[in-house]
Amino acid sequence: MSLSVPKTYDLIETRGFPGYELLDSGGGRKLERFGDIVVDRPEPQALWRRRLSADRWAQAHAVFSASGDDEDKGKWRIERAVPESWPVALLANTQQAGVSLTPNTQQAGVGVQAGGSLTPNTRQAGVGRVDDITMLCRLQGLWHLGLFPEQMPHWQWMLEKIAAAKAAGVERPRVLNLFGYTGAASLLAAAAGAEVVHVDASKKAIQWGKDNQAASKLNAAPIRWMLDDARKFTAREVRRGRDYHVLLVDPPKFGRGPKNETWELFADLPALMDDCAALAADKHAAIVLTVYAIRASALAFAELVAEKMAQAGGSMEVGELAIRSKDGKALVPTSLFVRWSAHA
Ligand SMILES: C[S@@+](CC[C@H](N)C(=O)[O-])C[C@H]1O[C@@H](n2cnc3c(N)ncnc32)[C@H](O)[C@@H]1O
Repeated sequence: MSLSVPKTYDLIETRGFPGYELLDSGGGRKLERFGDIVVDRPEPQALWRRRLSADRWAQAHAVFSASGDDEDKGKWRIERAVPESWPVALLANTQQAGVSLTPNTQQAGVGVQAGGSLTPNTRQAGVGRVDDITMLCRLQGLWHLGLFPEQMPHWQWMLEKIAAAKAAGVERPRVLNLFGYTGAASLLAAAAGAEVVHVDASKKAIQWGKDNQAASKLNAAPIRWMLDDARKFTAREVRRGRDYHVLLVDPPKFGRGPKNETWELFADLPALMDDCAALAADKHAAIVLTVYAIRASALAFAELVAEKMAQAGGSMEVGELAIRSKDGKALVPTSLFVRWSAHA
């Protein structure tokens, strides 16, 4: 059997959900609402101009300033009272997602207008009723708040896979959430009736996930919170002959296991994916790999060119450039591109 990489590049977008909105972006920042709190954070890829007024930006409750050139350091400046932790509802109006995804969550192909139609697969696959979950957001040190809203379409997809496994007779589909962080996917999976193993190397993230479980009133849900190194854990699971229906893999570029094991994306991902392949043995299995190690997205440059060429009109293409190996089997990505021409 063989599996070839698709020839088209997908752009999966979300416009958020009731608890989250991207209010504006530009000038290297983004203005977002998480529940009742509005934050102004760095977004180096927002190269374009802001659309909202300075007054609107000044209404943010908290502003994160990086210290010097170091994106990973800095602190929050509190402009209006912010609770130590506050709730953000994830699904709310998605409860009948079997009929349609939330209108804000859509999957569009590149070149398809934003808000393009749902894919046939998405339309057919129902997720049934899933109770809402509550994520607690916090301003803790770095600019992350405990929730990555762009993952919503992945969570929807996961819910569809869980529903499909159930429809095929699997009573309790099994979900493995590697590098699971504060547990949004784990809680949604559990709310949908899956049995979940959540693995993270950080005690703080695991405790935060448990706090989210309590806030979501899912105390009795079958989630195993594993403080472990992702690679060690998967290697052990493979030896035990375990398998899962959905595997979520969201690795950082660099991390450390609880016993100081190093995680380096480019060195360690291939072996981890070998294990994931072995663990995804079930015929209903699905894997989601998300990598944040890129420093830029083709989209950032597409937005910039679109802004600059708006008066001229014309047409644009956007994507990644890649080199195919001589034997034709591998496709190596090299760079992002945008092509503009005056005529379509
Ligand atoms: C959510 S993922 C990374 C994605 C995130 N968007 C980012 O930009 O870093 C980060 C999680 O991986 C965990 N982690 C890091 N190294 C790990 C390891 N070796 N094993 C398991 N989890 C690890 C961290 O504790 C953290 O909760």
